[in-house]
Amino acid sequence: MKRLNIGLKEVQGVYDGPEGKLWELIMGEQIHIGGFMESMVMAKKAGIKEGQKVLDLCSALGGGLRFLVKNFKVQGFGLDGTKTMFDEAKKRAQAEKVADKIEFKLGNVLDIPWSEGTFDVVWGEDAWCYVTDKDKLVQGAAKVLKKGGTLAFSDWIEGPAGLTEAEAERVNKFMKFPYMESGKGYEAIIKKHGLTLKSSEDLGPHFASCIDLYIRMLSEQLTFDALRIIGDNMEMFKGMGGEMAFMADLARKGKFSRGRFIAVK
Ligand SMILES: C[S@@+](CC[C@H](N)C(=O)[O-])C[C@H]1O[C@@H](n2cnc3c(N)ncnc32)[C@H](O)[C@@H]1O
Repeated sequence: MKRLNIGLKEVQGVYDGPEGKLWELIMGEQIHIGGFMESMVMAKKAGIKEGQKVLDLCSALGGGLRFLVKNFKVQGFGLDGTKTMFDEAKKRAQAEKVADKIEFKLGNVLDIPWSEGTFDVVWGEDAWCYVTDKDKLVQGAAKVLKKGGTLAFSDWIEGPAGLTEAEAERVNKFMKFPYMESGKGYEAIIKKHGLTLKSSEDLGPHFASCIDLYIRMLSEQLTFDALRIIGDNMEMFKGMGGEMAFMADLARKGKFSRGRFIAVK
């Protein structure tokens, strides 16, 4: 699939600005599909235990790490490339009195600033679709895992039915993704970097129903709030609704999806 010329600078444009606020409005502080429930499922599948060191790659507002600290008593570490997200993550961890249990760093996940063999778990939720080189990202994640450690992540992916070039380009342009991996693509990358794949799941039907839920929330409940965030621009609001409906349709057809992957070093 053709890759778009979108890098961290463009992603920072999203998460430093109104688009990031819109995603928080419809998804909450855990900016991923399914929020608390989906984090709980992945944490259980990853076998996360008290006291473990967990690195969240693309930690955003820190919602994923605060969830893991509160529910699994882990030691959290977060890396995100957007200053607004980094600042907010620290502020919110302080407000919830878990700042001493989480260390946040600002930087690109393609250059992980921790040493080899540091973490019990490397974690990611619905964000690696923004990263320009998934192979390098998984290689870096594998490197900082301890021997026997677990890689656990979910991501927006090309579905099993496959996207046409035009469909992929339209989704990637709207979402500001350089490209998306497929489930099979991630499985190959995971194995290439010496990890043993424990599970690879396609979560298409749930993904489609959540996009429908976001469309309903925007059109039937949060319209005023969403419009305020985008400067009361009704044309832009309608355009976004159209793109989200297009994505929901692709998801229902199994062309666009979300995957969850668990692997061990
Ligand atoms: C959808 S949000 C992540 C949500 C988060 N995992 C959660 O569940 O709350 C995407 C985040 O990825 C970050 N990001 C995207 N590409 C990045 C990169 N190359 N390096 C670091 N952070 C990146 C963005 O700054 C943004 O905060």
